[in-house]
Amino acid sequence: MKILLVDGTVFGTKTGAILRQVEQYIKEYNSGLELEILYFADLKHQILDGSPLNEDMQMMIRKFEEADGYIISTPIYQASIPGVLKNAFDMIDPKAMRYKPVSMVANGGTYQHHLVVENQLRPILDYFRCLVTPNYVYTHSSHFDENNQIIDATIQDRLRELARVFVEYCKLSETLPKQPVDKN
Ligand SMILES: Cc1cc2nc3c(=O)[nH]c(=O)nc-3n(C[C@H](O)[C@H](O)[C@H](O)COP(=O)(O)O)c2cc1C
Repeated sequence: MKILLVDGTVFGTKTGAILRQVEQYIKEYNSGLELEILYFADLKHQILDGSPLNEDMQMMIRKFEEADGYIISTPIYQASIPGVLKNAFDMIDPKAMRYKPVSMVANGGTYQHHLVVENQLRPILDYFRCLVTPNYVYTHSSHFDENNQIIDATIQDRLRELARVFVEYCKLSETLPKQPVDKN
């Protein structure tokens, strides 16, 4: 299975640091998964306005379509997910992520916005009918050292548990036929 780890920040390094930690834990639970990190900071983003899509956006859409599961890592911007991440979801076919496992991780500058994950990101993934794991992890600057490495033991444990459950959801997804019996 191909797992796409999406780093939704366009600057900064904390969300990427969380992803690399999750990547390591996933490998420990299942070394057979093919893991790839997609850094949004590396892409030339283009707003969905009806214009032909540039190569980076086409490549991003292809990676979403070809992946069998996702870890979505997002910073919190203005009490929500960043525009580039919502814009990316807007470009993806509603059936492209259906019944595929997803785990969410997020970082914010305050402790107050952890429910953005629950109330804003999860409903989008539910709309795509993803298999969203019940656990997600929200981090804050105080969980990192000056080199943006995660130093908080509780966060490490929560990320490890998230990886463990995600790997089980991958197995579930493999055995779940993607073709629906209804017409939607
Ligand atoms: C435009 C902007 C808006 C932000 N708004 C919020 C916010 O509403 N709540 C919050 O907790 N943090 C907010 N932050 C802080 C970011 O969440 C934080 O800088 C980011 O998660 C750091 O991760 P990174 O190093 O991967 O970019 C904001 C940052 C920026 C740049």
